[in-house]
Amino acid sequence: MTFPRCDQTVAWSALAGHFEAHGRELDLRQLFADNPDRVHRLSIQAPEMLCDLSRSHWDVTTQRHLFDMARECRLEAHRDAMLSGQAINQTEGRAVLHTALRAPKGQGPHSELVHEVLERMLAYVDGVRLTAGGTAPGQITDVVNIGIGGSDLGPQMVVPALDAFVHPGLTFHFVSNADGQDLASVLRRLRPEHTLFVIASKTFTTQETMANAQAAKQWFLDEGGQDIAQHFVATTTNVAGAAEFGITTTFGFWDWVGGRFSMWSSIGLPIALALGSTHFKAMLAGAHAMDQHFAQAPLESNLPVYLGMLDVWYRNFKGYTSRCVAPYHHGLRRLPAYLQQLVMESNGKGVDAQGESLPYATSEVVWGEPGTNGQHAFFQMLHQGLDVIPVEFILVKRASYRAPASLSPALRNMWDQQHHVLLANGLAQAQALMWGKTAEQALKEAVPTASQAMPPEVIARHRAFPGNRPSMTLLLDEVTPRSLGALIALHEHRTFVSGALWGINSFDQWGVELGKAMCKELLPRLASGDTSGLDAATAAMIGRLRSS
Ligand code: F6P
Repeated sequence: MTFPRCDQTVAWSALAGHFEAHGRELDLRQLFADNPDRVHRLSIQAPEMLCDLSRSHWDVTTQRHLFDMARECRLEAHRDAMLSGQAINQTEGRAVLHTALRAPKGQGPHSELVHEVLERMLAYVDGVRLTAGGTAPGQITDVVNIGIGGSDLGPQMVVPALDAFVHPGLTFHFVSNADGQDLASVLRRLRPEHTLFVIASKTFTTQETMANAQAAKQWFLDEGGQDIAQHFVATTTNVAGAAEFGITTTFGFWDWVGGRFSMWSSIGLPIALALGSTHFKAMLAGAHAMDQHFAQAPLESNLPVYLGMLDVWYRNFKGYTSRCVAPYHHGLRRLPAYLQQLVMESNGKGVDAQGESLPYATSEVVWGEPGTNGQHAFFQMLHQGLDVIPVEFILVKRASYRAPASLSPALRNMWDQQHHVLLANGLAQAQALMWGKTAEQALKEAVPTASQAMPPEVIARHRAFPGNRPSMTLLLDEVTPRSLGALIALHEHRTFVSGALWGINSFDQWGVELGKAMCKELLPRLASGDTSGLDAATAAMIGRLRSS
């Protein structure tokens, strides 16, 4: 099962020619002037959202060549191979079937297995939520998820994003770091009789998670906790490993679910505890709707396809090395971190699926902060720095936090206003990035003051903006379990599309192994001080770390 790589296609050469002739110099202001219909043509509708791609650095010719390239790469056949459960993760000999986790009962591969665990997990969730927030021993007020990477980032991102839907009697904590401070600062506020620990690890061998799990267990016993079986559950593919740890309540999943694609599996237990069965199922349904769109929409109206193609164009032709994710929704503040793992662990590869070195760069750096906070930190660079960094705005029509009927009209009114402030800021940033401001305009606006040490023309140059900075805007009606599910699935499929065009295996992560192995080797040396055979820098640093 091999698929052509993007640079082996005729369209790739056409794109290169187009880039030299027009693509290098594309100016958004000109593109809009030349084509008044641009915003409509490039507003792509997908389940639960609309994406405005009109402020991206591409034109009709770019898109035509990209679609040709996708067809030459047999993108649709590659997609179908994934969705039907072929072992497209060839270095690990595994299928890639996170989509099966959100397919309705009776549909998709492994349906029986998936729904057996899902129903069992949701029944457990209903039981915990029934008495959650109570004061009697055994009634849960705090859930501590101990896991890292894909066993942390999904639930850690989703629970605050859907804060308006979270059980009022439950507080959620996410502990991931090997640094004991992470766990210690959480435990300081907890009592064992009201705490539920979820030990989340696909392998149940990950160093950080095992260390934190052991420490949590010790704390639980030290503080007089009774009944480990009631207060510790595991979510893992390694049921035997969890049993060895002493956990009897385990919700499994399977090796065909990659860690960074696992929030739909039992790794989503904290999400289900927070939201309850109905909302958890709505999140799965939203993701499934996006799966259907990805599987069935023609390429020319398929949003994940547009985004994945744009990623390749930006990275390999326009030379953009990163993209900034700016959700104008405070609940989505962990989305950039979630996407970092999804995109960079999937597509940060240097060889193709056959092991041949790649002649082009792959994964872009993904980073960001919620708006409006980012505006007061790094937007300066986005507007006036010399690097061009595409920005992905997420705007949400309706805020979910202002729903409770008990709000006073005065407060509701204030929060309505604040939501308009938020949206106006997002709109303004996209506009400013595109239009910029010339030094002449800046000069006209400048109000000279007596204290100015520089001539007004010089100051105007500091106050000018180049403009023509690309962005896109994803528009959601509201952040709900369903729309968030669709949003995450969109990014999963987008990551698949760019990885498939690059001809890489997006589903392994060998790049994390070397450091892990070296850490194992160094750990005893920190205690013994033995630095024999080590490089000079590491040996010297061990010496410094051990000196009193
Ligand atoms: O960082 C490497 C990695 O394997 C991720 O892919 C994974 O999400 C994370 O570690 C955690 O692994 P596990 O769920 O097995 O503890």
